[in-house]
Amino acid sequence: MLSNKVVDKLRGYRTPFYLYDLDLLRQTLRLVGEACDKYGYKMHYSMKANSDRRVMECVKEAGMGIDCVSGNEVVYAVEMGFDPKEIVFAGVGKRDEEIVYGIEHGIMAFNCESKHEVEIINEIAAGLGKKVDVALRINPDIDSKTEEHITTGKADCKFGISRRELAELFDELPALKYVNVMGLHFHVGSQITDMSVFELLCQEVNKLYAWIVEQGIRIESLDMGGGLGVDYNDPDGQPLPDVEAYFDVFAKNLKIEPHTVVRFELGRAVVAQCGELISKVLYLKVNESGRRVAVIDASMTELIRPAMYNAHHAVENLDGAGRDKDIFTVVGTVCESSDNFAVSEEFPEFRRGDFVTIKTAGAYGASMASTYNMHLLPAAVYSDDL
Ligand code: LLP
Repeated sequence: MLSNKVVDKLRGYRTPFYLYDLDLLRQTLRLVGEACDKYGYKMHYSMKANSDRRVMECVKEAGMGIDCVSGNEVVYAVEMGFDPKEIVFAGVGKRDEEIVYGIEHGIMAFNCESKHEVEIINEIAAGLGKKVDVALRINPDIDSKTEEHITTGKADCKFGISRRELAELFDELPALKYVNVMGLHFHVGSQITDMSVFELLCQEVNKLYAWIVEQGIRIESLDMGGGLGVDYNDPDGQPLPDVEAYFDVFAKNLKIEPHTVVRFELGRAVVAQCGELISKVLYLKVNESGRRVAVIDASMTELIRPAMYNAHHAVENLDGAGRDKDIFTVVGTVCESSDNFAVSEEFPEFRRGDFVTIKTAGAYGASMASTYNMHLLPAAVYSDDL
């Protein structure tokens, strides 16, 4: 990872901060772009994974569209100069003013998650005298076999339109004059590494697609969402996502008409490996149970994934070369017992002031940061500036 090569240049920055390897990001974007070209797919980067301006600029240079999940994300993407015709807007709870903004700026489509939402968009569009393109996010009832909190395609979750509501919506559609159903949307979860999940998804999509075409709907766009996982345990060995293997599953399994454009909304796979959270050791202690603990100056307010999902990120002592090793638990500063970055792992002896990197932190790191305990939001340092 970049931090090993540049650690001495980092010492002047106030920790904790995110370090972004923009060259790795550009390489990842090139890889994804080339794979898209090969398969004829279109990519809408899921900006919830990381909306840092410099990261977004690289995404823009790569020519990708954007997947937004809030009105503020849509505004940000539009103001950054992304083509509104390449912006999709998803989410179970779009506010009226967010819908108005999207319509007025001519975004590509609203990915709708309920019959009610389609009705409301129709109402708002009628008020504005504009016909609006919508895609229907359907709940395919698929278990993405990933962490429970980030699985989004099972029957009993808040995401997507149920088959029952879908049938009712099709009956109602002729009366909804201001919406044009032009696409379907699916997203079953995140950090998916088992490709059979996507195969299963394709099989379900094929059935739904055929049924919807039978209803007389022309499907211009089929958005298969995001979800491709990355290697959190070996970021140095696997810095790039295997996006070809991922697309290959869809190319082999989707049975759709040639006019339908297939889209994806990858977030994590694009940005996870280019970001590290850099921190410094504050204190060393032995706790009551005898565990050796290193307290670092980062915490769940900069990177909540370990505390929230029990997610594992590789942690490395950047100043540990040549030292004896021992078992340490690495903890953050916040007053929560779940604020741990490593539990009983082997590290070279820590000393106060050592630089520590928490890897694979480019996705859902800075974008989920909070000011809990009145912490500052994390700053960022970019490889281009070092
Ligand atoms: N499309 C939709 C509709 C989504 O809800 C998401 C992510 C994506 C695309 C992008 O998925 P990705 O390619 O990044 O897997 N905070 C969690 C992840 C939440 C994902 C939410 N939705 C984490 O840190 O693991």
